[in-house]
Amino acid sequence: MPSILVIGFLSKYTSSPYALLYSSETRTSLKILENFIAPSNEAEVRNRIYEALKSSGKSCNFIGEFLQNWESKIKLAEKPMQQISHIQETPVKRLCRVHNSITVNGQFPGPTLEVRNGDSLVITAINKAQYNISLHWHGIKQMRNPWADGPEYITQCPIQPGGSYTYRFNIEEQEGTLWWHAHSRWLRATVYGALIIRPPLSSPHYPFPVLPKREITLLLGEWWDRNPMDVLALAQFTGAAPNVSDAFTINGQPGDLYRCSSQETLRFLVGAGEIVLLRVINSGLNQELFFGVANHKLTVVAADASYTKPFSTNVIMLGPGQTTDVLLTADQPPAHYYMAAHAYNSANAPFDNTTTTAILQYKGAPCVTTLQGKSQTQRAIPAQLPGFNDTATAAAFTAQMRSPSKVEVPVELDEDLFFTVGLGLFNCPTPNTQRCQGPNGTRFTASINNVSFVFPRINSIMQAYYQGTPAGVFTTDFPPVPPTPFDYTGNVSRGLWQPTRGTKAYKLKYKSKVQIILQDTSIVTTENHPMHLHGYEFYVVGTGVGNFNPSKDTASFNLVDPPRRNTIGTPPGGWVAIRFVADNPGVWLMHCHIDAHIFWGLAMVFLVENGEGHLQSVQSPPLDLPRC
Ligand code: C2O
Repeated sequence: MPSILVIGFLSKYTSSPYALLYSSETRTSLKILENFIAPSNEAEVRNRIYEALKSSGKSCNFIGEFLQNWESKIKLAEKPMQQISHIQETPVKRLCRVHNSITVNGQFPGPTLEVRNGDSLVITAINKAQYNISLHWHGIKQMRNPWADGPEYITQCPIQPGGSYTYRFNIEEQEGTLWWHAHSRWLRATVYGALIIRPPLSSPHYPFPVLPKREITLLLGEWWDRNPMDVLALAQFTGAAPNVSDAFTINGQPGDLYRCSSQETLRFLVGAGEIVLLRVINSGLNQELFFGVANHKLTVVAADASYTKPFSTNVIMLGPGQTTDVLLTADQPPAHYYMAAHAYNSANAPFDNTTTTAILQYKGAPCVTTLQGKSQTQRAIPAQLPGFNDTATAAAFTAQMRSPSKVEVPVELDEDLFFTVGLGLFNCPTPNTQRCQGPNGTRFTASINNVSFVFPRINSIMQAYYQGTPAGVFTTDFPPVPPTPFDYTGNVSRGLWQPTRGTKAYKLKYKSKVQIILQDTSIVTTENHPMHLHGYEFYVVGTGVGNFNPSKDTASFNLVDPPRRNTIGTPPGGWVAIRFVADNPGVWLMHCHIDAHIFWGLAMVFLVENGEGHLQSVQSPPLDLPRC
């Protein structure tokens, strides 16, 4: 049976506006526009409108003027409306082979959601795949609305095959680049897309030093030359590490350097002198990535949908889940330049050492004619990326992030949490059996504060909490500090490598001021763990190598202009400190965004209690919330 997942969506910005736009003018234009209301992608909408106008015999000037002005004349629809697109699964061919991939609307990657700050979204997900699934809007705060957050068994039961669920949420005080993805096992390997939030029409300009002429969204992904769900299932069975990916991709395409891929290598046209906004998203499953553009400097202006103080760099590093917006000026001689990404591998572990590329192509870049008389484009100039284990470059890059100006960071703390984050090994009664293929005949695991998180099966934690039936689903005894202190980044005795299993939440009072030190451990290997907190943005107030030392390290915290993020990596063998105010009631997952680590248990949940009033409490659940 073909697997199909259909998703429809709409925001004030993306639908009926096109029809309303010309209703005051000629009937003809209105008709054209009605026929061409397009769901998501601005460039595509533009193209279609352009084609429609051209074929209707509109004059060249009319079309030019229309394309220049159509956006600014949009009259907003009063209410969000819902649009459902029924599109079927398309087989996806990569690296010479066709796979039956789970997709949204038959697209890989999935559709881009382009909205504005203040929009309301209504997104119906219809599951026609053979797997349970749920969707997550990575980085959206979902104020008082955990029901729309998406992680399966945390805030909702998954949508079963044949079922559907409508995600309704508002974009409140957020702008920039986010993304959405499946939050069920490894389905996000192919079920993901960009979520771009532009400033509201009432003040539509970016707060950048220069304004971009063009925007390019780059989803960096990972591709397996087999069904990713099988890769996961095999690892779950054997207890060994899952196979690494076979390719990295940019917007779903591996690019020139892989077999059977050069035809489809993505090319992005720029005019000489133009300023381009690149929205770079690490939507890969398991790998931190370096990204750069040949011979071009990048000016970082935002990360995780929060603006930053601009700074210039040759390369950026993103952990899975993170996004970075950079400005690039096309100030080089007209030619073809590679945009490239490859692994930043911080662990002592196998990794995918291939490189994905796309091409930044200047308009008017010279063509060369081959002997056969065919014109051929010039070879692209290669991008220089740091070495795979260049932690110094990764750390130096991350350390430059600042908020644009002074921000309000919690100073007096109500909660001072210390979380160890890392891998572990479960010993086997009979080592080296089929199910114990990890190091020395063990099974891999991972934990926070020695608790290896187990996803519940009979209900979601949020539903169980709301209904007052936590028994058998979760407990609220997650430890605020490690049960046994040890030299976290030293030579850890084998007796401490084996965590306990549990589904434990940590309770937070409404509006409590929270600090968490995320301390990487050297158990099995030190590693950069991109830690993602749902339902919140937090300030990254400090970071360092080795064990966190409160008496020495706290003094150097940046409480003035720390960056605001939703995902931050622990430096390998080091720590990172984050702060936030727990003003969003509900159940919120915090986890390592390396999917190979989540199923080993590198996760926990916060249960943020309601405040006093109606507006400080979790909303009531939607009627179509899936049941387990
Ligand atoms: Cu991007 Cu829990 O997810």
